Amino acid sequence: MSAGLPVRKFDAIVVGAGGAGMRASLQLAEAGLSVAVLSKVFPTRSHTVAAQGGIGAALGNMSEDSWLWHMYDTIKGSDWLGDQDAIEYMCKMAPRVVYELEHFGMPFDRNPDGTIWQRPFGGHSMNFGERPVQRACASADRTGHSMLHTLYQRNVRARTQFLVEWMALDLIRDADGDVLGVTALEMETGEVMILQAKATLFATGGAGRIFAASTNAFINTGDGLGMAARAGIPLEDMEMWQFHPTGVYAAGVLITEGVRGEGGILLNVNGERFMERYAPNLKDLASRDVVSRSMDQEIKEGRGCGPQKDHVLLKLDHLGPEIIIKRLPAIREIAIKFANVDPIREPIPVVPTIHYMMGGIPSNVHGQVVAPRDGDPNAVVNGLYAIGECACVSVHGGNRLGTNSLLDIIVFGRAAGNHVVEQNFARQSHKPLPKDAGNLSRSRLARLDAATSGEQVADVANTLRTTMQAHCGVFRNQQLLTEGVAKVTQIEQRVRRTAIKDKSKTFNTARVEALELDNLIEVAKATIVSAEARRESRGAQARSDYPARDDANWLRHTLWYREGNRLDYKPVNLKPMSVDAFPPKARTY
Ligand code: FUM
Repeated sequence: MSAGLPVRKFDAIVVGAGGAGMRASLQLAEAGLSVAVLSKVFPTRSHTVAAQGGIGAALGNMSEDSWLWHMYDTIKGSDWLGDQDAIEYMCKMAPRVVYELEHFGMPFDRNPDGTIWQRPFGGHSMNFGERPVQRACASADRTGHSMLHTLYQRNVRARTQFLVEWMALDLIRDADGDVLGVTALEMETGEVMILQAKATLFATGGAGRIFAASTNAFINTGDGLGMAARAGIPLEDMEMWQFHPTGVYAAGVLITEGVRGEGGILLNVNGERFMERYAPNLKDLASRDVVSRSMDQEIKEGRGCGPQKDHVLLKLDHLGPEIIIKRLPAIREIAIKFANVDPIREPIPVVPTIHYMMGGIPSNVHGQVVAPRDGDPNAVVNGLYAIGECACVSVHGGNRLGTNSLLDIIVFGRAAGNHVVEQNFARQSHKPLPKDAGNLSRSRLARLDAATSGEQVADVANTLRTTMQAHCGVFRNQQLLTEGVAKVTQIEQRVRRTAIKDKSKTFNTARVEALELDNLIEVAKATIVSAEARRESRGAQARSDYPARDDANWLRHTLWYREGNRLDYKPVNLKPMSVDAFPPKARTY
């Protein structure tokens, strides 16, 4: 027992059972470590399941391809905010990790010769931008689903222990700053425990639920980021949020970029394929920030569709029923269910929709969390790893290329697992827990039971989401952002006083939502404060008042600290590991 809480001990705990978490846990369990994976939902319901279009790897199965071209496309896509050493590592590793997945049994689509079939995706090109290349390895339009089920089955075989419907609450750090595990809530019973570990791996995914319109699952509440921020760890590049060009209008559900990869096109109210004007070379397959801004521009200039002129159309009927049924079956189902159109005959109404968080917990290529300490900008937080969307390695910089998220989770999940195994933790004993371990979580839970403002969690959360949507959207400016910072600061005061309606401890739904809101507010503050400060346009940060990229002043990563709501900056790594650097240049598609 510590601070009155029961303690369970493991070599490693993984928080989150999406692709990153389960790729890491597989390495750990297969190496014989005792590993527990905590998840708020059953593992195969983690948000990776929603990934549709593919995982990027320069296999060269459809035409010539090279990891160096993939690396260049990723750096250009990131608007030069990505770290070139990490990007080189990811793109070079890509073929290897895809073949590993294939050997694990992942059912990729095939070419007639048996090789993995690949489709084109936005921003992926041949020969440094010359023309589109087919680099996305896919299982129809259910690639994440196939991947997650494959990884779950491999973990079951490796005897990974899953703690299903458990929520991690707070990190436990000792006086040296080392991480010794987490406190966690078993959602069904309300029991709180300390899960002590020699290595704690965060794989908690994104936080798209800080926005009102999002392709993200309801579970994506930035839990890892909230825990890291409360433990004094900075959050990196949080202003960089990706709008996916094609969310279903008024529903937010993702329509894969693979639709445009197959030849689908975007049309305005005049039936014009407007991307030809904005990106003459890659057109509808330009990078996501470029396509989303172009759509927003069309709508703002009165060329939107529908009675409100507030969306555009994604036309794919010309692909023919055979391709739609074979390659895009889930998209057809989504369009019928959520937009009431059958894309075999009619276009799908779409709008840019929040999709992905490029920023996150600063980490290195081994997945170790880094936080500046005693003058060392790259000091490692012992015992803590962050992988996948909750991490910022940074391989996506200002804008992520489609298919690089599934790649990121597999490459860095695997790398973190390997790094933990190499530390020989199984042979080491646990460090003693600090006396106050668990106190923070206990006081947060006590506050929920005592709160009396009368405001409901759901109401405050909805205000937060609409505020973020209105003040931190596709195009931003100083006035919007300054007002947004003030509003989010006020909302934070309300978050601290919200009451939970149902105080019963049966299944704890209300309690979990309140605890999630504690995390959402940290992510929202980090996002809007970082966006307000970055006075340039780069990647997903499009400022109408500072329309140009400003490498002289802003070629640097933002670090946001919860303590004092303050910002710091660190340089972008422009030095790859083994090849020549790609120096910043103008970005056109
Ligand atoms: O469009 C999509 O299928 C999404 C893929 C991604 O975000 O990588």
